[in-house]
Amino acid sequence: MTRRHTTAGLTPALASLLLALAVAGCGDRPQRSAGTAGTQHPAARPIDPAAEAAALDQGPRAAQTMALSDSLAAVGQALFDAKGCTGCHEPGSSASAPDLRGVATRRTEAWLRRQVTTPEWMAEHDPLTRGMVEQYGIPMADLDIDDDEATALLQYMLSEDGGR
Ligand code: HEC
Repeated sequence: MTRRHTTAGLTPALASLLLALAVAGCGDRPQRSAGTAGTQHPAARPIDPAAEAAALDQGPRAAQTMALSDSLAAVGQALFDAKGCTGCHEPGSSASAPDLRGVATRRTEAWLRRQVTTPEWMAEHDPLTRGMVEQYGIPMADLDIDDDEATALLQYMLSEDGGR
């Protein structure tokens, strides 16, 4: 890292400005598509669903991009019961559906959101979901989860991972 040597002679003011710029750069969203996916006009949707599905699994895992909110996680846990997720997903068991412990470290936030809100679309177009449907012999049920409910459910899954 030769860069470290070149900053050694800078004035403190300039050095801290450079540091501030570097920190601001780190805050950039890793995925340009992540911010636009939910706001796209229907007419602007990508034509190729396979490409859209493949993009969902790109980038850092949910446990790295999400910040844990204990209150939302509690809402998510209640929803997990109320919506009937527990009917198939049982902690510590993968008898009839995947064990969701650790899922936030395996999948991206965008992928999890789509899996929870549009499982049928995922079963049709996403290779990871297709593989799981084959493995478990049934596809996940569409429980009419809206975006806010998905946010809380993702928080619950993150909390089960001991997330930040
Ligand atoms: C009818 C049984 C059933 C219900 C109800 C159900 N799931 Fe699933 N779920 C599955 C099966 C089977 C899979 C794997 C196949 C697939 O994705 O279609 C799965 C996959 C998942 C995955 C991906 C797991 C992984 O390892 O990548 C997540 C996340 C998930 N479900 C969350 C939920 C949530 C949250 C709810 C409640 C809103 C729910 N599921 C309700 C059966 C179910």
